[in-house]
Amino acid sequence: MLQPLQEVRIDLGDRSYRIAIGSGLLAEPSLYATVPQASTALIVSNTTVGPLYAAQLRTALNGRYARIHEVLLPDGEEHKNWQVLQRIFDALLSHGCDRKTVLFALGGGVVGDMTGFAAASYMRGVPFVQVPTTLLAQVDSSVGGKTAINHPLGKNMIGAFYQPQLVVCDLDVLDTLPAREFSAGLAEVIKYGPIADMAFFAWLESNIDALMARDRAALAHAVRRCCEIKAQVVGADEREAGLRAILNFGHTFGHAIEAGMGYGAWLHGEGVGAGMVMAAELSRRLGLVDADFVRRLTALIGRAGLPVRGAVIDANDNVGRYLQLMRVDKKAEGGEIRFVVIDGPGRAAMRPAPDALVRAVIEDCFAP
Ligand code: NAD
Ligand code: GLY
Repeated sequence: MLQPLQEVRIDLGDRSYRIAIGSGLLAEPSLYATVPQASTALIVSNTTVGPLYAAQLRTALNGRYARIHEVLLPDGEEHKNWQVLQRIFDALLSHGCDRKTVLFALGGGVVGDMTGFAAASYMRGVPFVQVPTTLLAQVDSSVGGKTAINHPLGKNMIGAFYQPQLVVCDLDVLDTLPAREFSAGLAEVIKYGPIADMAFFAWLESNIDALMARDRAALAHAVRRCCEIKAQVVGADEREAGLRAILNFGHTFGHAIEAGMGYGAWLHGEGVGAGMVMAAELSRRLGLVDADFVRRLTALIGRAGLPVRGAVIDANDNVGRYLQLMRVDKKAEGGEIRFVVIDGPGRAAMRPAPDALVRAVIEDCFAP
């Protein structure tokens, strides 16, 4: 194993676990020593990631599980649905997997969210491990136990809170990530600055080029800092009674873009990138931040290779369609849309916003 290995702990009582961050971790058997023993393991991956990395993961797991099965899902957000979820259950049942079977999610957020949901529900719950292979999954989706699939009427609408036993972030796997996907991951990295840590935001402004070049030291610092912030938030509010919602900065607008364009057209992180600009602009119009803050955030998002303008999701009634989609957001209450706003740099809060203000933001922010 290449050193140094960094660790972040998620403190949730008897559901606590650690996130291992470093190079060369995927195939290192000692990392998995704390995962429950069982006779069977199932590696869940997709048709892109499985052929690249499943063999390495098997190397690490061979001494630990007598039988290691594999299921490869079709690749893409548009497959994050009931029909494809069923393939995981088909694999588990056809291989006679019992309630001790350990699932390994090897892939990005789509594989991680689906595997987590399958683990939460197979035989009412089996252990699982997150092995995130995208930047987005390493800094966000693999940590904190949110699992879900999409419904045609809304994103991530069906799911469960279910924590993994371990998260293994091997920075080496990011080398094969397409540039567009890497940028999408940077959206979730950037979000941690405005909501929690402006010193980290300033570090990102200085180091965005090193990150874009996938410099290992810069990546290790960014992944660790993001996981530390997420660990703090999840430790304080695991089931999103309040605070955890701040992690969805930019997501209300972003989810509307993703759903409105049809899942898979815009990447999740791209929607979040444009959505953060919109949410920052909304915060400015609510008098919470100044124009310079919005300018800095927009510039950083642009330098990360992300869109800074929303998409036209309905040529006839763009604003109406945004509002309609945002009303089914999980943060909406009684049809009232609630937004994560920046309540001063480095601090976030949930707020409802008058429709007229939201309309104005959308009108100003969609692509010309
Ligand atoms: P993804 O899982 O679709 O992966 C992006 C693409 O990269 C896919 O084509 C995948 O096959 C490919 N890929 C993955 N790793 C690779 C590698 N190392 N080399 C080459 N190709 C690789 O997308 P994502 O951005 O990782 O995740 C987005 C999903 O995560 C969304 O469904 C979103 O809702 C979810 N999400 C969940 C949470 C949560 O808390 N659970 C948080 C944020 C996002
Ligand atoms: N990605 C948002 C959360 O984990 O709560």
